[in-house]
Amino acid sequence: MKYSTKTGNATSATTACLVVPRSRATAIAEALGIGEQMRLTLDSTENKTGHVATVFSSGKPSRLLVVGKQDEAKTVAAFHKNMQAVAKAVAKLNVADATLCLDDFEVEDKNIHWKTRIALAAISHASYRFDAYKSKKPKAAKLRRVAVLAKDRTAARLAVRHAQALDAGLALAKDLGNQPPNVCNPTFVAEAADALATDGVTVEVIEEDAMAELGMGAFLSVTKGTDTPAKMSIVRYQGAAANEAPCVLIGKGITFDSGGINLKTNASIAEMKFDMCGAASVLGVAKAVIDAQLPINLIAITAAAENMPGGRASRPGDIVTTMSGRTVEILNTDAEGRLVLCDALTYAERFKPRVVIDVATLTGAQVVALGSQASALYANDEGLADALLAAGEQSSDRLWRMPMWEEYQEQLKSTCADMKNIGGSAAGSITAACFLSRFAKAFPWAHLDIAGPSYKKDKGSTGRPVSALFQYLLDSAS
Ligand code: BES
Ligand code: MN
Ligand code: ZN
Repeated sequence: MKYSTKTGNATSATTACLVVPRSRATAIAEALGIGEQMRLTLDSTENKTGHVATVFSSGKPSRLLVVGKQDEAKTVAAFHKNMQAVAKAVAKLNVADATLCLDDFEVEDKNIHWKTRIALAAISHASYRFDAYKSKKPKAAKLRRVAVLAKDRTAARLAVRHAQALDAGLALAKDLGNQPPNVCNPTFVAEAADALATDGVTVEVIEEDAMAELGMGAFLSVTKGTDTPAKMSIVRYQGAAANEAPCVLIGKGITFDSGGINLKTNASIAEMKFDMCGAASVLGVAKAVIDAQLPINLIAITAAAENMPGGRASRPGDIVTTMSGRTVEILNTDAEGRLVLCDALTYAERFKPRVVIDVATLTGAQVVALGSQASALYANDEGLADALLAAGEQSSDRLWRMPMWEEYQEQLKSTCADMKNIGGSAAGSITAACFLSRFAKAFPWAHLDIAGPSYKKDKGSTGRPVSALFQYLLDSAS
């Protein structure tokens, strides 16, 4: 989708489809000389948020898309509902372009930048398809261009630029997440990282032998049961002065999580190609930041491995030494995400980061606690937590802060090693975060457990939390 901005009068906009709120419909229709037609249409369509009616005109905008209700609530929720309806309607209309009169859609406390971002995200979400493996491709959506008509063209232009970059990042994250696990293995993830290399962006891949040299015993313990080699990729984007501390993102990239020797059961194993959505999302954020050329330094790390059972696989009871030197008793091989992440966290220390944020489909317990509505947020730094919560709210990609009280740490006590990799059945998402926190003492750190929000059973990858993280980085750049 190609986005642009327009300014000037709605009635003289050259477009196949002009999108206006119901409160403005009559005035615009009259100016176009189709007042009577509009009256008839409005009489026969429900005056309701999320409802859309189409009126044809022989003038420059050849269709008017009338949205929502006459006295629309100026709420975020109403705007969302209306834009989702618009997205569906313009896809169905079979037009090549549409123009959104966003000034006319009023939302309390929200500016044109926000409205543009939400509206364009809704439209691109509705037109996203993953049909790489369909032998008969479904007909591609006809919609190609969407313009935002706004008085403040400078603000709209910036928003469009950000929306376009975010779009590309979300598409990358979704595509990677949706790939089948026989294709999207750690090498495939590394190649996706490598594809981001361009001016100002370098990519490095750490292979298993290098991991062994670094002492990443926890990371390597996860990949022992598979023939597919593990890879850790490091994407470095320099958009600010070289001496400015970078923000480091780390993504869990288990390209298939069978559970290992603690093999998963039927119901839960089928979705485990999505266990690399954390890695996909950090690459998505990197893509968006690179496209938008944000004035920050960013490092995106993907910790990619496949968790399989096998004759060489790690056993429950094995003790491994992490890169930090501390030992872990692996009491459940299905708690593998924290094992790759703890070594990636230790590795991140070398970058002297401003902040480190890891993103992981880490626990089923996150889904029990929050479902798919919000990612679980953990942090050892109040400022970072607040900034992330605000960014989640702003981008409608919700996060919810969870506690990490010291008392929970006791659940990780091991009888024969420094810690074990599971904390029992109570508070599973929290104890997983507590495990990671032990490897994140050297910097302000946050952890997002995205098991629920990152994908939908039959709709595939959602791209979350790319929007929230991109917003956080946008905020931190200004
Ligand atoms: N990848 C799973 C978590 C998961 C569950 C992601 C559901 C998406 C949807 C993770 O590696 C896992 O297996 N976690 C275990 C941890 C347990 C063994 C302590 C879990 O949640 O059951
Ligand atoms: Mn697992
Ligand atoms: Zn997993």
